[in-house]
Amino acid sequence: MIRRMARCFVTRKLPGEAIGRLAETHEVDLWEEDRPVDRDVLMERAETAEGLLCCLTDRIDAELLAACPDLRAIANYAVGVDNIDLDAARSRGIPVGNTPGVLTETTADLAFALILACARGLPAAEADVRAGRWTTWSPEGWLGRDVHGATLGIVGAGAIGSAVARRAEGFGMEVLLNGNAPGDGRVELGELLERSDFVSIHCPLNESTRGLISEPELRAMKRTAILVNTARGPIVDGGALREALIQGWIAAAGLDVTDPEPLPADAPLLEAPNLLVIPHIGSATHATREAMASLAVDNLLAGLAGEPMPHSVA
Ligand code: DGY
Repeated sequence: MIRRMARCFVTRKLPGEAIGRLAETHEVDLWEEDRPVDRDVLMERAETAEGLLCCLTDRIDAELLAACPDLRAIANYAVGVDNIDLDAARSRGIPVGNTPGVLTETTADLAFALILACARGLPAAEADVRAGRWTTWSPEGWLGRDVHGATLGIVGAGAIGSAVARRAEGFGMEVLLNGNAPGDGRVELGELLERSDFVSIHCPLNESTRGLISEPELRAMKRTAILVNTARGPIVDGGALREALIQGWIAAAGLDVTDPEPLPADAPLLEAPNLLVIPHIGSATHATREAMASLAVDNLLAGLAGEPMPHSVA
């Protein structure tokens, strides 16, 4: 069967060869700049597209979908799809693909890196070295908390949460899980927050998880506890987290995701002590970002061919 070339709008340059593969069979219109495409440009260039390969920084809402009568397939370059109005896509019969699996272990690595870095106070210790404050070995200096043998609460026990749990086993940690997956260690959120020394968030962002960790939840945690979020920023109430760190309701937090993103350098949250923030790099290794690009292109090619996508959410 000879397949017709479709016009595809790709909203960011992606690592690896995957976009070249898409261009072998379809017409690719690529936003070349290393920043999210402006909304008006997105609207204009998606308007005539049949395929859309977009990023988590692009809002694909009902307004945009209504303005794209030819659109037949959407591939999101992310596992999270909270940037896309899935109901609107479904009602138009447009399949939406995402990139699970290929980023699971890489994101779990980063969550564990945050757990370790926060537990041992690495950012502050490193800053002291650079500022010339490392004047002696100190019995009482730079004291952190043990990760091994501690209790880790995982909120959202899907693929990434489970991968973090596997790493925790190697550290001899007790693991408490909260989420839909059945199994050992599964507890209600309240109990998880009360018992955990570390709480790591791995649930998707949706209407039931937005603000899931707010003032009451932070107050329920141990004063010695550390919160890690590598899922989506709005799952944690940033104002409440700032207060929790300033007032000492919890000991520290490590965030790969924030609300908003990017977090402005003058954001009030950054005034909080014992806070480690990094710029949404959970999946950011060469191999994983290339694998995500490849899967996104596979999804788009399948959708355009009218075949089931390897990974679809709508
Ligand atoms: C995702 O895939 O949802 C991550 O947040 C970015 O890789």
